[in-house]
Amino acid sequence: MNISTRRTTFLEECGVGPLWVRRYAVPYQEIVQIEYAPLETVAPLVPVVATVEPITPTVVTPVLSQIPAVDDMMTAWDNAPSSVPAVIVAAPKLDLHNAAADAVALKANIATMDWRQLKAAVAECTQCGLCHGREHTVFGVGDESAKWLFIGEGPGREEDRQGEPFVGPAGKLLDNMLASVGVKRGENAYIANIVKCRSTDDNGRDRTPSAEEVAACLPYLQRQIALIQPTVLVALGKTAALSLLALDPTTPVSTLRGTVHRYAGLPLVVTYHPAYLLRKPSEKAKAWDDLCLALRCYAPAAE
Ligand code: URA
Repeated sequence: MNISTRRTTFLEECGVGPLWVRRYAVPYQEIVQIEYAPLETVAPLVPVVATVEPITPTVVTPVLSQIPAVDDMMTAWDNAPSSVPAVIVAAPKLDLHNAAADAVALKANIATMDWRQLKAAVAECTQCGLCHGREHTVFGVGDESAKWLFIGEGPGREEDRQGEPFVGPAGKLLDNMLASVGVKRGENAYIANIVKCRSTDDNGRDRTPSAEEVAACLPYLQRQIALIQPTVLVALGKTAALSLLALDPTTPVSTLRGTVHRYAGLPLVVTYHPAYLLRKPSEKAKAWDDLCLALRCYAPAAE
């Protein structure tokens, strides 16, 4: 019995069988010497015939045009079957799309106005709800070619009554601040506000204007800045600073002081609001530092 027969017998005895063996061994030389058949003798591949149906292009209509006009929707609603519960009250016919488009158009229009047109537009403005409670709009006051522009928040009760910014005790302090840098109302200084109408709460007390009210009013101030072309802007208090710098409402004024910011390419210095300084006179020294910083922005341009 040769070795191979013995191994097979042994494995079969162990229950491991049958033993699979290669039918013939390929010597190394034969492997490397394999000759491939010339290409032309290889049967050509049978092309697969596409049976996919041609796709008919679908015309995609812009989604917006598929939205019915508000009036059509309201008519459809009005004509709805009477099985619709009677308690459903038709919503007011708001045309929000047109309102937004009007606001964009007005903003573009404001950017081209001269002083006379701008004053008339502010006097008649109804862009936000503040118009309902006002006695006067408060456009701003001062030298229309001033190098210093001071920007407050918005009119309070007295300003609303008189139509002029900063007329109360805070206004007196502001006048002193102006004097400290060598200017006065109407002489190289202009005073404006972020919003032109008084904002009040349900109890008739002054409140901070909302983001929407600020956004509606800001184009007027932007045009005032473009017409005045001041050398330096001074933001008086939080609302002015945060509105101009588009910062989070929780940003404290203290973190914005001591830096020269930029607005519309112009240097902007942030300081405390005069009304705050009246409540906290110990902070006046800081406001003086801020005005010195603003003076440093102004001085080179004034030479
Ligand atoms: N406070 C402001 O911010 N502006 C005014 O005009 C008056 C008070």
